[in-house]
Amino acid sequence: MVSLRNIVSFERVKWTIALYLLLQLSLVSAVKHHDFKTCDQSGFCKRNRAYADAVSASATQSPYQINPETIVFSQGQFNAIVDKLLTDGTIVKLPLTVSFLSSGLSRITLDEERRQKGEIELRHESKARKERFNQAPDWAIVGGLDFDKSAQLSEQQVSGTTSVQYGADKRKKAIIQHNPFKIVFERDDQVQMIFNDRGFMNLEHWRPKIDQADDDGSEKEDQSTWWEESFGGNTDSKPKGPESLGLDITFSGYEHVYGIPEHTGPLSLRETRGGSDGAFTEPYRLYNTDVFEYELNSPMTLYGAIPFMHAHKQGSTVGVLWLSAAETWVDIVKAKRSGQTKRDTQTHWFSESGILDIFVFLGPKPADLTKAMGDLTGNSQLPAQFSIAYHQCRWNYMSDEEVQEVNAKFDKSAIPVDVIWLDLEYTDDRKYFTWDPDKFQNPIGMHERLDLQHRKTVVLIDPHIKNTHDYSVVQDLKEKGLAVRNKMEQIFEGWCWPGSSHWIDCFSPEGRAWWSSLFKLDYFKGSTLNTYVWNDMNEPSVFNGPEITMPKDNLHHGNWEHRDIHNINGMTFVNATYHALLERNPKKPTRPFVLTRSFYAGSQRLGAMWTGDNLADWSHLKESIPMILSLNIAGFPNSGADVGGFFGTPSPELLTRWFQAGAFYPFFRAHAHLDTRRREPYVAGSPYTEIMTRAIRLRYQLLPAWYTAFHEASITNAPILRPQYYMFPNDEAGFDIDDQFYLASTGLLIKPITMEGATSTDIYIADDEIYYDYFDNVIYSKPGTYRLETPLDRIPVLAQGGHIIPRKDRPRRSSSLMKYDPFTLVVFIGKTGNAGGSLYVDDGETFDYQSGAYIHSEFSFDSDSSTLSSRDITVKGSMTKAYHKAMAEVRIERIVFIGAPSEWQGKTSVTSEQDSKKHESQLTFGESVGGKAAWAVVKDPKITITKDWKISLA
Ligand code: NOJ
Repeated sequence: MVSLRNIVSFERVKWTIALYLLLQLSLVSAVKHHDFKTCDQSGFCKRNRAYADAVSASATQSPYQINPETIVFSQGQFNAIVDKLLTDGTIVKLPLTVSFLSSGLSRITLDEERRQKGEIELRHESKARKERFNQAPDWAIVGGLDFDKSAQLSEQQVSGTTSVQYGADKRKKAIIQHNPFKIVFERDDQVQMIFNDRGFMNLEHWRPKIDQADDDGSEKEDQSTWWEESFGGNTDSKPKGPESLGLDITFSGYEHVYGIPEHTGPLSLRETRGGSDGAFTEPYRLYNTDVFEYELNSPMTLYGAIPFMHAHKQGSTVGVLWLSAAETWVDIVKAKRSGQTKRDTQTHWFSESGILDIFVFLGPKPADLTKAMGDLTGNSQLPAQFSIAYHQCRWNYMSDEEVQEVNAKFDKSAIPVDVIWLDLEYTDDRKYFTWDPDKFQNPIGMHERLDLQHRKTVVLIDPHIKNTHDYSVVQDLKEKGLAVRNKMEQIFEGWCWPGSSHWIDCFSPEGRAWWSSLFKLDYFKGSTLNTYVWNDMNEPSVFNGPEITMPKDNLHHGNWEHRDIHNINGMTFVNATYHALLERNPKKPTRPFVLTRSFYAGSQRLGAMWTGDNLADWSHLKESIPMILSLNIAGFPNSGADVGGFFGTPSPELLTRWFQAGAFYPFFRAHAHLDTRRREPYVAGSPYTEIMTRAIRLRYQLLPAWYTAFHEASITNAPILRPQYYMFPNDEAGFDIDDQFYLASTGLLIKPITMEGATSTDIYIADDEIYYDYFDNVIYSKPGTYRLETPLDRIPVLAQGGHIIPRKDRPRRSSSLMKYDPFTLVVFIGKTGNAGGSLYVDDGETFDYQSGAYIHSEFSFDSDSSTLSSRDITVKGSMTKAYHKAMAEVRIERIVFIGAPSEWQGKTSVTSEQDSKKHESQLTFGESVGGKAAWAVVKDPKITITKDWKISLA
């Protein structure tokens, strides 16, 4: 029976969704500021800033001090109790650990004894867990926690401090000052970083609520947000009262800080308080949220959070990982200390709840940081090969016929594509795991037709489950009690795309097991092993929730409040989906592909991300570059932005430029809002379609280099797109540059055009190496800034001399069809006359590479002997032989030398050698003319990729 209440709430749901859509369609390019808190509207942010101001204004000492009698140092770990002295003389005990790790990192944790022991009472009848949340590492950290047992107390101890030397050659030192508590980190006797330098450390301890607020003498503090907090019509009941924690971290002599994605704005983070021109006034915020029409150049929060920051100065990079899953804000100020020539970057971090848990990275190179971050939080997934090719998405392809039509038009226009995506509307009334029975009558047939060209589908599956009577998924969710609960312990109900919905709680092992069962082919009928998944709205987005997300006093598995886990919530959902896809085919699991909007440190292990709902505007194209660079250096390289812009309709020029930039995003997908005009690359017509096609084909041509780059990221966590400071840590002129980047270790330097009507652009070369224009071989032989002509059909790409790049030059309809195609090697000869590079190949689908089923070759060109050689560096495993046998026929069909020495002129043949067999092949030489490099091409040298070979050009 349909009750009146249901009808009323159904009407409300309809109106809210209609309003949400209307807001999306209004295309007024302005974020709805009133939906999101400013620091002043977030109780703990305001309190921590006020605390910092009060400390700065007074000469009072920080009330935190180590009780020296509690200090124990053993086996790489320093333990002590920090006493927090309250003004009434009471002491709150805070257990401190400073761990020294074999990786050379150190880790600092601070908890609260009373809460740890569960000795507190909750303010009201909530089931919320009493302790401070300490399980973020369970989700984010996968290794790198072994103690450095050789860490030792320094021989010279200054009274009132404990100094510990650690790391290789004991070059690192932590000087732990007891009173007031402070830690100075040194490398090579130079101060790098100071914790509690400015005395902003503030761990809000538990206290009972007393109506006359003067329980601990802190009556001067603003208590208005301690016990309850309202925003946008929602009241947060705060069962634990105030629980925030803050700390200032000074990077000594470091003028640049990078990271803490996801934000718009420059890669080198701006000041947020009292700074110079262009400084923000709000702190950078990390609180995963669905922000409509997000603002550019802003510290506002976005969909994901990685609380990892690099601090950089000439020749040195250090950093911190602030492992909190709760809402977090970061203030940044740059100031000079007397006697110093460079400014310090003074940061101030504060989170709403949980323990303090910080990892300290002392570098010295940017790559040391990204590597150590990978050791801790996992390296980027080695993606399925198809997923690094081109993806065609739109909200929505409305029927299986429409999918077929798009598929056919790509073929007709000879544009390669690997994946066609299905957004929300493929479902039956927004019930995930179902298909619209009228429009998608034969999904299996649809997949089979795509499969003819080895193409895949990705379908949207969100964490909100439609609350309706005729849907077995929701019935199961309810019956099994696997949904997030509200503060009253009832199933939480909110609104999202399907209207009234419930949310799966992926913190629960039972919830995850159940989620896996939904992806089984006999349950998710109409899906196949080639159907992959897009996890959207997983911040989670709740249309009628505070700040478009879940109330903070909701409860998750283990009775942790949503407040405690908010920023890792999205990652837990992707984790569940990743494992569900793995389990779909237990006999021969293939690599899952999951795209996520929300993320945290560690999400890179599970798939790709994209930067959400951008706008079809030049400014959004421009800002996509620093956003993706920031994600890359923070450990999430597999990232991209909606090509073409989600909202609005791009001009053909903008779309074309976006495809040219997107061809260099690690994750390359075009997407568009429901209300925009069709804009598949074949729609625009001449000359745009041809130019976009060339950009997409360039991506396919370079896929072997991209796949090799993804492989490198999967073992070293190195960024795939690398900013200037990362490439040239000594070159100060590059520290602010964030509109050009290098593609992994290929030496390719790309400067996407992001300005309307641009016919030229300036590109900056930092090093004394020869660079070649990738397309016409024009030489740039000195460091400096160069103007490149950039008519619409030109992407500014330079190749740094000294690299060898593998390519596949035969155009195909999808990447899988290129599997056995022969390779081309392009040797960009460097100033020394030498060059080097590598190629990684595997089946691109399964996990057989873990048993050695791959080919890894290292190429080098040596100018002294004029020999180009390839060495097999595969670490052999049980499956190597069989895989190499299967790939035995795959050849290198062409070798192109750019910057060929003039001695080669007149030479017409070269000798190649493999397996003791020699072969003469033809060499063609092209002279250097008009500033363009000389080149040479070796045709069909009769070499294959599985074995060592060499070619002599002497
Ligand atoms: C929001 C996502 O950001 C967007 O890409 C998607 O098209 C819509 N949700 C509809 O599913």
